[in-house]
Amino acid sequence: MSKNTILEVKDLCKTYIINKRQNNVLRNVSFHIDKGEMVAVMGPSGSGKSTLLYTVSGMDKMTAGDVKFCGKSLSEQSENSLAEMRLDDMGFIFQQMYMMKNLSIIDNIILPAVKSSKKKESRKEILSRGQDLMHKLGISEVGENDINEVSGGQLQRACICRSMINDPQMIFADEPTGALNRTSSDEVMEELTKLNSEGTTIMLVTHDSKVAAKCSRVLYIVDGNIRGEYNIKKEQPLHDRERGLNNWLMEMGW
Ligand SMILES: Nc1ncnc2c1ncn2[C@@H]1O[C@H](COP(=O)(O)OP(=O)(O)OP(=O)(O)O)[C@@H](O)[C@H]1O
Ligand SMILES: [Mg+2]
Repeated sequence: MSKNTILEVKDLCKTYIINKRQNNVLRNVSFHIDKGEMVAVMGPSGSGKSTLLYTVSGMDKMTAGDVKFCGKSLSEQSENSLAEMRLDDMGFIFQQMYMMKNLSIIDNIILPAVKSSKKKESRKEILSRGQDLMHKLGISEVGENDINEVSGGQLQRACICRSMINDPQMIFADEPTGALNRTSSDEVMEELTKLNSEGTTIMLVTHDSKVAAKCSRVLYIVDGNIRGEYNIKKEQPLHDRERGLNNWLMEMGW
């Protein structure tokens, strides 16, 4: 494993068993992600994209294979150290935007920092970092609002703040723009791209080739297998990147 690799996945399998019937959702998936990359996962509905994201980030147990995050094998970790790793070194942005209903936006954002013992900080220091993040993402004005008192785009930006609060090495995002209109989606992507350019590695699942074109690499998954990968030519204007990616996706049967 090279020093630059942050996530190394080898022969990963995930099988669900329902009513004694086996569903082999991930079949010997291997790939790696280097520090500083921003990788999109695309593929048809039901191909295993979310399952892949959840198993490589230790949220879900793998059936077989090996996943190393920052050189540590996930399956060799105790429940506790895995939970600590997820809290301190990984950030998550979910499709359904899980937020606690009885907490304000700012309290949701700082919750992972309150739970973490990574930094020894007072609540005041944590709050101040939470506010800085909200400012950066342009949602300072809604900190005290309940989660049902903000727009979808604001809520998703709050999720990004929450995913960043413990300065993770890597962010895992499942369709972070899936529920947003084009304008909000562009804004969220702008923030994620900025975080990435500041050094955070990102792996995101998307159905949107406009979103994927802003990443550095695209993995295409069909029936639990990686069928191909595409390197985005960063030096090209966005329009050309989109066109190149769309041509490739069409070849892949998208
Ligand atoms: N918790 C679960 N228990 C049993 N089967 C599951 C579970 N989660 C997913 N599956 C099955 O695994 C397969 C892949 O699902 P997954 O959610 O990973 O697909 P996806 O590529 O993310 O699809 P979409 O684009 O619709 O989000 C599907 O056949 C699904 O029914
Ligand atoms: Mg999914």
